[in-house]
Amino acid sequence: MKEAKVNKESPVPLYYQVKENLKEKIESGVLEPNERLPSERDLENKHGISRMTARRALTELESEGYVYREQGKGSYVAEPKLRQALSKLTSFTEDMQDRGLEPGAEVLNKELITVEDQLSDKLMLQSGEKVFLLRRVRLADNEPLAIETSHLRNKFCPGIEEFDFKDRSLYETLKREFGINLGRAEQSVEANLASKFKADVLNVEKGSPMLTTERLTFLTDGETPIELARSTYRGDRYKMLVELRR
Ligand code: GLP
Repeated sequence: MKEAKVNKESPVPLYYQVKENLKEKIESGVLEPNERLPSERDLENKHGISRMTARRALTELESEGYVYREQGKGSYVAEPKLRQALSKLTSFTEDMQDRGLEPGAEVLNKELITVEDQLSDKLMLQSGEKVFLLRRVRLADNEPLAIETSHLRNKFCPGIEEFDFKDRSLYETLKREFGINLGRAEQSVEANLASKFKADVLNVEKGSPMLTTERLTFLTDGETPIELARSTYRGDRYKMLVELRR
């Protein structure tokens, strides 16, 4: 492949040119996942740029999820991000199966609770109504990708707390065991940083970028809420897609 040179006359910052150049090689597959990238020193020599410029290019590629660093070894090409369509009401299990990955979970917490305040309002709970809380780390081919906390209205699925959700889809269980069909959901996405706990569980550095969705799911009547779930996805592994029409 012809080597793209940086253009020092260009108004485009040098670090940006180097970064875009590497990004193109990653996206086109010239550099493959887990392949080592040129070091800061290599970039410095090759392009006649400063060490700081080279470092900035690599740091930005890392924060955008294109590369990962190994302490004392260098930068490597990251696996491509998982593209998550936001317009479909699918389960984690379905999303992973669609990609040919093996879905899995580690159950962190599972209990029947009573809740108050906002959560209760959103789920339109009646007074004293019990909620099934399920907190899981979600895995794809054994790689931890997300932490999900689901709150389900227990009155629609009494006894759900008896199931082991390690190898079991929640949506599938609702359908098969309780005859519950889901109708629609309202979902938001926001950015945040990994707490120490989430970072440890998801195998990333504390403070890494995360994408958190909150999904309120309704039954087929479109107005009875059944589940409120917060899912925190690794920002380095996910890209959210939305289709817009006009
Ligand atoms: C998605 C949603 C969650 C939902 C989960 C069910 O990840 N964000 O709100 O609880 O799917 O997944 P599964 O059926 O695989 O347990």
